[in-house]
Amino acid sequence: MSQQADQGSSVVEEVSGGVLIIDFGAQYCQLIARRIRELGVYSRITVPERAMFTLKHMRPKAIILSGGPCSVYAHDAPSLDAEILAQGIPVLGICYGLQWLAEHTGGSVLPAEKGAEYGRTELQPTDTQDLLKGVRQDGIVWMSHGDKVQKLGPGFEVMAKSKPCPFAVVGDRKRKMFGLQFHPEVNHTVDGQRILENFVLGIAKCDNDWNPGNLAERKVQAVKDLVGETGEVVLGLSGGVDSSVAAVLVHRAIGNRLHCVFVDNGLLRQGEREGVEELFRDHYHMDLKVVDAADRFLSELAGVSEPEKKRKIIGRVFVEIFEEESKDYKNANFLGQGTLYPDVIESVAAHGGATSTIKSHHNVGGLPEHMNMQLVEPLRDLFKDEVRALGRELGLPASLVDRQPFPGPGLAVRCLGDVSLAKLEPLRQADAIVREEIESRDLHKDLWQYFAVYVPQKTVGVKGDARVYQDVCIVRLVSSQDAMTADWETLPTDVMRRVSNRILNEVDGFARVCLDISSKPPGTIEWE
Ligand code: XMP
Repeated sequence: MSQQADQGSSVVEEVSGGVLIIDFGAQYCQLIARRIRELGVYSRITVPERAMFTLKHMRPKAIILSGGPCSVYAHDAPSLDAEILAQGIPVLGICYGLQWLAEHTGGSVLPAEKGAEYGRTELQPTDTQDLLKGVRQDGIVWMSHGDKVQKLGPGFEVMAKSKPCPFAVVGDRKRKMFGLQFHPEVNHTVDGQRILENFVLGIAKCDNDWNPGNLAERKVQAVKDLVGETGEVVLGLSGGVDSSVAAVLVHRAIGNRLHCVFVDNGLLRQGEREGVEELFRDHYHMDLKVVDAADRFLSELAGVSEPEKKRKIIGRVFVEIFEEESKDYKNANFLGQGTLYPDVIESVAAHGGATSTIKSHHNVGGLPEHMNMQLVEPLRDLFKDEVRALGRELGLPASLVDRQPFPGPGLAVRCLGDVSLAKLEPLRQADAIVREEIESRDLHKDLWQYFAVYVPQKTVGVKGDARVYQDVCIVRLVSSQDAMTADWETLPTDVMRRVSNRILNEVDGFARVCLDISSKPPGTIEWE
């Protein structure tokens, strides 16, 4: 998967130019890529071992070396063919990237015991000609590093310092190599985006014509070119943003040579299946097959309470059913998927060992090889917000394009412990109440996700005059930029009260409603 992911064998178009980001295992690597795209510049992430290969294909106009958790002195520290520095392409090293750069240009690095620095510090620029143009004095920057640079190599000079760090920003203007000891991509760094802009647009002169909203026609053409005059595509439609945008795009390219399969796994939210039928079958007139597989999923899941096992079962059964159903499309030689760029990057990182997978996501890389179909993944180079922009351009309704993320394993990961209809039904009803109360007041615009969770913990309550002994419903409301970090949120008291009253009165199954007030980290957004 990792090779394929980065090579992009199913990328339906190759974008050249832009910024190549080399992932040294940074927590914030995707954030760097997104920030660059926000500047209107295409960016792509690769692992160090594939850097030279990708460079040849992509012909980037700038290279960013990311941060990473290692020390440059560690025996397993990620490294890179230093040849990359001889290409005449402007380079910006961030944190570990800077240390790697220093090490490979004649400088030296001080090991962690003496160099570590975490949190905010104030930046004092001493040279504001280009990289730090417009960057204010004493602006906050965010540091998070163990080792730090001790000595610069020939040609490098200091451009900014901070109290604890004499080499906060360094550069060799002649060779267009620069380094930052702090993280410009995080929000806490006040002029971070300006620094990235100065590097990418000012120094590297990248073209800023990347606009996901304008991609529709190019993507449609690319799908046509890939699938050809007679090819047929089968696509697993989930009703989520990604597979929906992919379906509409492919449908525009090849019409009813696209066959959509929607698997109702019984773990969907209220009204979801009907919504998919209405939009895709009635409105778009797509060839849509709806498979009622609730019983099969529930019987496979019966008695299983371990979250990862649940995810694996759901992933496996989905693939089995999808494979069985796809056999009906004898002429289909392509498989359409709404894979996004972060899915691809995560897969690479997991293989490259740079970052660890916290939960296995069932929609990544689940295709059995023996299906022997070529992939059509028109969104493979896009981030979520870019897919939304593309969806809008394609005319998809806002209710779908701006819809909150819903995990592939569905309500199974919000139904703690084993999954059964007895739990799913009340959960579905409670979830519908949460959504209804929030959406009808337009409060969802400020929330990343808002949903209910079923906690099978009996508590005592009184309903009418009777004592009840029923379970707990958790309301989870979070704001987030990208799901990597999230804050808990609440609602105006009257709305919160209404949500709670409605759940306790209308749903049979809960004796108590609680609000989850955990941020991520250390919590996660989902409960499993
Ligand atoms: P966590 O719970 O890890 O979730 O903070 C981060 C984001 O990912 C979604 N999520 C999933 N999506 N398959 C998916 O497609 C999964 O198995 C899965 N688990 C979590 C979650 O809803 C949130 O947006």
